[in-house]
Amino acid sequence: MVLGFKKYVKNSSKCVNCGTCSLIVSCPSPHRCIGCRSCYLACPNKAIIEIPDQSDRKMVEISIDGAVHKVPEYITVKQALELLGFRFTKFPEKEALFSPCETGGCFACALIIDGELKPSCHTPVMDGLRIKTDISSHEPLRIVEGFQPHPVGGVGTPYWLKRRGYYIEVACFSAGCNLRCPTCQNFHVTYNSSLKPLTSREAAKLLTSCRVRFGVDRLAISGGEPTLNRRWLIEFFRELKGRNPDKKARLHLDTNTTLLTQDYIDELVEVGVTDIGADLKALDLDTFQLITGISDKNLARKYLETSWRAVKYIVDNYYPDEIFLGIGIPYNRAFYPSIEKLYRFGEKIAKIDPDVQVVVLDYRPEFRRRDIDRPSFNEMFEVKRILEESGLNTVIVQTIYGHIGP
Ligand code: FES
Repeated sequence: MVLGFKKYVKNSSKCVNCGTCSLIVSCPSPHRCIGCRSCYLACPNKAIIEIPDQSDRKMVEISIDGAVHKVPEYITVKQALELLGFRFTKFPEKEALFSPCETGGCFACALIIDGELKPSCHTPVMDGLRIKTDISSHEPLRIVEGFQPHPVGGVGTPYWLKRRGYYIEVACFSAGCNLRCPTCQNFHVTYNSSLKPLTSREAAKLLTSCRVRFGVDRLAISGGEPTLNRRWLIEFFRELKGRNPDKKARLHLDTNTTLLTQDYIDELVEVGVTDIGADLKALDLDTFQLITGISDKNLARKYLETSWRAVKYIVDNYYPDEIFLGIGIPYNRAFYPSIEKLYRFGEKIAKIDPDVQVVVLDYRPEFRRRDIDRPSFNEMFEVKRILEESGLNTVIVQTIYGHIGP
């Protein structure tokens, strides 16, 4: 039978053998493409191309919650479920399954497949596969890496601690992101599906040992995007708090804020989060889509509105006593042909709270935007001046010479 399937093949004239599609992405079906798109999304050189797959396929039998169905072979479990009428979304909804990264890293789409928790976006269907959609009996999993100390910290690290020369924070990085930023600063983590996933307990234990080893009080998780797998993240912080009950311990979440609804924030505070680094990618929808690569306007709008609402909600309810908040702004002149927009961005944050910490990140040529220049020191200094003029009192800019604080 022939359906409108796609497959992904390497365009050798663009491939520079960087190893992303073989070392970072773990292909779930190397002998024949199942159309999961992980390599296509991860390749920094866009050297993987999408073509129609009109080859003949047999039908295979799978069972979902005990009911037997026939689906075409060489597709992902997620695609099979979609063919059977299940709905997957990129913003959590009741009655729908959630698949925010679609690259096998976050495990938010995971189902019990032949008795094991596996990402449905990254697992091929096979004859006889048994799938259960109720995963509540299994401990959540996620790919997390890079358990290391850091001397600077992130957006949610208070500026007075951002001194160079010694470690102030230990951090780990979760794979998978719901955004597709062409300037992704951490794409080796974001698109990584090659590591063994960890339970929340395992990750909290590793991060705590890192704290003990390097003698710091701050424990952070960044990404990728940590908030994609809510159950995993809540358990991670709960476990981390249990292992670090002392008052000096600061539990820090670095997030793009696009999924941070009010009840999610309340839950994070309840399990012990003390510091949030909230990236606000943009003031307006056009710039948000340009920076994040989200082409679906409605989805982009939802993400953007959720981010701004999250920041306001944290300031109104938890800041500064329960939560230290830092707001991240990405800057490159490629996103800001007019500096007026940046001024208005600052003005809107200042209306929420003029004293909140704002960290401007100098976006470098990375991932799929190697064509842009890293902002110069003087340019970043000018950005700082503009944001201060807009009413912000605590602006830190990341520059080629390190962070310049207020
Ligand atoms: S959506 Fe499948 S692993 Fe993230």
